[in-house]
Amino acid sequence: MIQVAPSLLSANFADLRTDVELLNRSEASMLHLDIMDGVFVPNISFGFPVIKAVRKYSQKPLDAHLMIVNPQNYVGAVRDCGVEMMNVHYEACTHLNRTVQAIKAAGMKAAVTLNPSTPVAMLEDIVADVDMVLLMSVNPGFGGQSFLPVALKKVRQLRDLIARSGSSALIQVDGGVNLETGRQLADAGADILVAGNYVFSAPDPLAAIHDLHVL
Ligand code: DX5
Ligand code: ZN
Repeated sequence: MIQVAPSLLSANFADLRTDVELLNRSEASMLHLDIMDGVFVPNISFGFPVIKAVRKYSQKPLDAHLMIVNPQNYVGAVRDCGVEMMNVHYEACTHLNRTVQAIKAAGMKAAVTLNPSTPVAMLEDIVADVDMVLLMSVNPGFGGQSFLPVALKKVRQLRDLIARSGSSALIQVDGGVNLETGRQLADAGADILVAGNYVFSAPDPLAAIHDLHVL
């Protein structure tokens, strides 16, 4: 079974509680929260007060995808929001090993994200220490973009690297996921699919999540 992580970026921000409660009734494994700072990516989304509000109503674990510079400065703040999985970009961390250790020491699961142009090989010496790797299948910053097929090759490469390293990291993919690209990703070996636009533009978001889950 594929795990599904709906991205709240495409939810109704004027009535987030309704969407969070809808997702409570879904087969989603976690909620994916896209945090943007307008520096690491050319867009700004939402921050800690919104995560805390979501935490109050979500029965699902929170997966925080931090598209920000200096994510190491916010480990405590993210933990205090009740986030289970803190997800930092490889490209934003000068001392990635230290940041991963700090996330785990704070009691959260640690994940590392790669931009589409960052090779999987850069993870060789960290993959055994993380709970999840997120491969971006769009350039981060916006929902509703088209899937970049380079992600399929990277899922296969990461599957090999994980096997060789004795790592138990799960493979998550984010960006442009729909039924067609989701099936390709599942065949390539992805464990968790993030989906924003596909879920929230569907007439029945719970059915859309189910369809990805059973791919
Ligand atoms: C993009 C975000 C994604 C985004 C995915 O920067 O990281 O999580 O919400 O949205 P869709 O599924 O619409 O491509
Ligand atoms: Zn994301």
